Amino acid sequence: MHRIYLDHNATTPLDPRALEAMLPFLRDDYGNPSSLHWFGQRALAAVEQARAEVAALVGADPAEIVFTSGGSEADNLALRGAAAKARSPRTAVVSSAIEHHAVLNTAKAMRDEGRPVAIARVREDGVLDLDDLAEKVDEATAVVTVMLANNETGVLQPVREASRIARARGALVHCDAVQAAGKVPIDVRALDVDLLALSAHKLYGPKGAGCLYVRRGTPMAPLVRGGAQERNRRAGTENVAGAVGFGAAAATAREAPAAEAGRVAALRDRLEARLLAIPAVRRNGDGPRVPNTTNVSFEGVDAEALLIALDLEGVAASTGAACAAGGIEPSHVLRAMGYPPERVQSSLRLSLGRGTTQEDVDRAADIIAAVVARMRRPTPS
Ligand SMILES: Cc1ncc(COP(=O)(O)O)c(C=O)c1O
Repeated sequence: MHRIYLDHNATTPLDPRALEAMLPFLRDDYGNPSSLHWFGQRALAAVEQARAEVAALVGADPAEIVFTSGGSEADNLALRGAAAKARSPRTAVVSSAIEHHAVLNTAKAMRDEGRPVAIARVREDGVLDLDDLAEKVDEATAVVTVMLANNETGVLQPVREASRIARARGALVHCDAVQAAGKVPIDVRALDVDLLALSAHKLYGPKGAGCLYVRRGTPMAPLVRGGAQERNRRAGTENVAGAVGFGAAAATAREAPAAEAGRVAALRDRLEARLLAIPAVRRNGDGPRVPNTTNVSFEGVDAEALLIALDLEGVAASTGAACAAGGIEPSHVLRAMGYPPERVQSSLRLSLGRGTTQEDVDRAADIIAAVVARMRRPTPS
């Protein structure tokens, strides 16, 4: 069966150039970057080259990049590390309601530990409500966290404007750019953020590698303590092959011509148009979006059942739902946008990538239309 992968927001295939770059560090170049000898220095040079490549992807200085085990650790480090260093009375965290669980659950844990946490609303189009954010940020706010692109809807968030609000009140700004990197250009200076999280496996790099951009001079306590790696900001022997793969993926993303974004956007729009032509189908998230993502609801169709039926037909998609202890938790993102439960439970996310072709999109649209029609057919009693 020819399988069609439309779940690039979950993860992407490893770029062959990233794999090639990594292989020597999994085979022969096994040195520890902290070692002073030849073996160690080879590994160190590779990690530093990767750091420069990742920094260039977001317009940062290499010294401002802290390698982590991925986006989740970067988000945890940003919130906890910055809040730990904030001076009283700056204790609060302000987050948007549609952040990834890496941010939201960290903020919730911090609240359980006694920190004030406020959650800013989003509008029905999936964009952060800046007026609500402005009401929630004050002189007691330590960190404001707003993602650049939402992982479920693809909707881009007004990070620059959120940063202006936070700065006016003296708070630090963290941006989870995990789903934006490689899809839209990112410039940490233009966004005017202090902290920014990236993950390699969302941009054709390896899983288990990511980084946090920490603007020079930003006070930040480490989460992982131990050796002096990463300029005392993250202890532990570096994931050399992971960093090298991340660097290669970042370099590839930087070189990817704007034409590729245009190609993917055209395919996404083609797929979306086909899906919206099915009766009682609606798009979820009307704000400006990254080029590769569409999220649609199929009235009267249970998205979990749809997902399984599509998988049997060779189409890999996703719902925004998360697996929580004891069952499936409906998408917090679509709920935050004010959608009724029926709409949330009938929503499917399709995310395209470099390998997606027009044939894939057309075949997927045919399969989805057929499966939805079958599922909507009344069962004979
Ligand atoms: C917006 C966002 N932030 C953070 C993460 C977590 O990244 P990682 O899988 O590298 O821990 C993800 C991954 O799904 C994400 O989509």
